[in-house]
Amino acid sequence: MAETMKLDGARELDFDRATVEQAYDRWAPIYDLVFGGVFSKGRDAAIEATNKLGGRVLEVGVGTGISLPLYAPNVRIFGTDISEEMLKKAKKRVAEQRLKNVEDLAVMDAEKLEFPDNSFDVVMAQYVVTAVPNPEVALDEFARVVRPGGELIILTRVSADNGIRRVIEQALQPVVRRLGFRTAEFAWSRYTKWLAGAHSMELAERRRIPPLGHFSLVRFRKTEIARTA
Ligand SMILES: C[S@@+](CC[C@H](N)C(=O)[O-])C[C@H]1O[C@@H](n2cnc3c(N)ncnc32)[C@H](O)[C@@H]1O
Repeated sequence: MAETMKLDGARELDFDRATVEQAYDRWAPIYDLVFGGVFSKGRDAAIEATNKLGGRVLEVGVGTGISLPLYAPNVRIFGTDISEEMLKKAKKRVAEQRLKNVEDLAVMDAEKLEFPDNSFDVVMAQYVVTAVPNPEVALDEFARVVRPGGELIILTRVSADNGIRRVIEQALQPVVRRLGFRTAEFAWSRYTKWLAGAHSMELAERRRIPPLGHFSLVRFRKTEIARTA
């Protein structure tokens, strides 16, 4: 069923799971070629932060598994994605590179994670949150499955609040959503609003990723004791 998303109250867009799934099934054969280099700085930063924490890691939206060889050998990774075709590439990579630290790869919706509470030391999602129909639902799920003291590490687009960048991002939105992306709708205030309602999470870091800073590495830590509202 199509989710109806509001874009700044002005236009409504359909951005549903099937559209995203099909878009990434189509991207799969050429994804690494197109996005391998462009997104590499951010990926390196996210993996470095994850390796520092170590333990059992859930990588949501693992895609073609482009990050998998970058994890430290002592980190155990469970990768999930909604696109079967992207995951096929990831499985091939794991087999070809004999990556022993990959626990499993499975088709799973970020909005409905099939894990018990507090299952992972780190939940990480690179360039994924803005591709999910209901990002706050996915963030809630990430927060649920990470253990107290663990971290949610996301590499994500942060849209402009105003100015010419905002105008451009809004103009691009109808075109790029068919490709499985969203350019607008993700001002920093959206993330902080989610955080304010997530009673057991606190902001550990926000780092803008060069060259343009349109993407940020954001680390949320799950507090040992749930904050009261
Ligand atoms: C832009 S790609 C990023 C892939 C990879 N993380 C990277 O760093 O290149 C977004 C990925 O998120 C996946 N995705 C989108 N919506 C999802 C959802 N609801 N649940 C799980 N994965 C999803 C897509 O299939 C795609 O593989």
